[in-house]
Amino acid sequence: INTAVFISGRGSNLKSLYNFSKKKISPIKIILVFSNNKNAAGLKYAKEKNLYSIYLRDKKIKILEIRLLKILNKKKIKLICLAGYMKILSYNFIKKFKGKIINIHPSLLPKYKGLNTHNRVLQNNEPFTGCTVHFVNNKLDSGKIILQKKIKVLRNDSIKKLSKRVLNEEHKIYPKAIIKLFS
Ligand code: GAR
Repeated sequence: INTAVFISGRGSNLKSLYNFSKKKISPIKIILVFSNNKNAAGLKYAKEKNLYSIYLRDKKIKILEIRLLKILNKKKIKLICLAGYMKILSYNFIKKFKGKIINIHPSLLPKYKGLNTHNRVLQNNEPFTGCTVHFVNNKLDSGKIILQKKIKVLRNDSIKKLSKRVLNEEHKIYPKAIIKLFS
C-alpha cells in the first residue's frame, strides 16, 4: 500500500512507521513524506532514509492542497498517515482521500481532542490517559477509532514524563492499527 506520511515536527512516529514498513508483516510502503514545516526534524530523518520528501508552503491552503494532491496522485498514494501533522486538512482534501487518512492522537479519544492533551489530563487528575489511532474526518480528532492504548497516570507524573510514556505506546500502536486495518 503506497503510503504518505505527513509530519510537522520531530518525526518519532515517522521513524516508527518507517521501521515497521521495512518488516515483512507490514502492508505499507512509505513512498513520500510531506511536511508543512521546513525545519521539521522528521524531514531530515526522511532524507537520511532516502525517502522522497517534500515541503510545501502557501498562504492559501486551497492552492497548497491542490499542489499536494497532484503529487499524491502521481505517486499513487493509497494511504495517508498523519504523524504529528499539526495542520487541519480541508474538507475538500479529506473528501478526495475519504477513508484513507489516519491519524495518531496522544489521548484516549473522544477525551482531550486538540492540543496540550497531557497538560489537561494532569490538571484534571485523570487516572488514565493513552493514545488513539483513528480515521480522519472533517471534525477535529473525531473520526472512527481504529485502536487505542490506555495507560495509567502516575502520582508524580509531569508533562514530560507522561508524554514520554504515551509516545512510547504511540510507536507501538500506530503499526498495530495499520495491521488491524488491512487484515
Ligand atoms: C505525537 O505525540 C502525536 O500523537 C501528536 O504529536 C506528537 C508528534 O510527535 N499529534 C497530535 O497532537 C495531533 N493532534 P512526533 O513528531 O515525534 O511523531
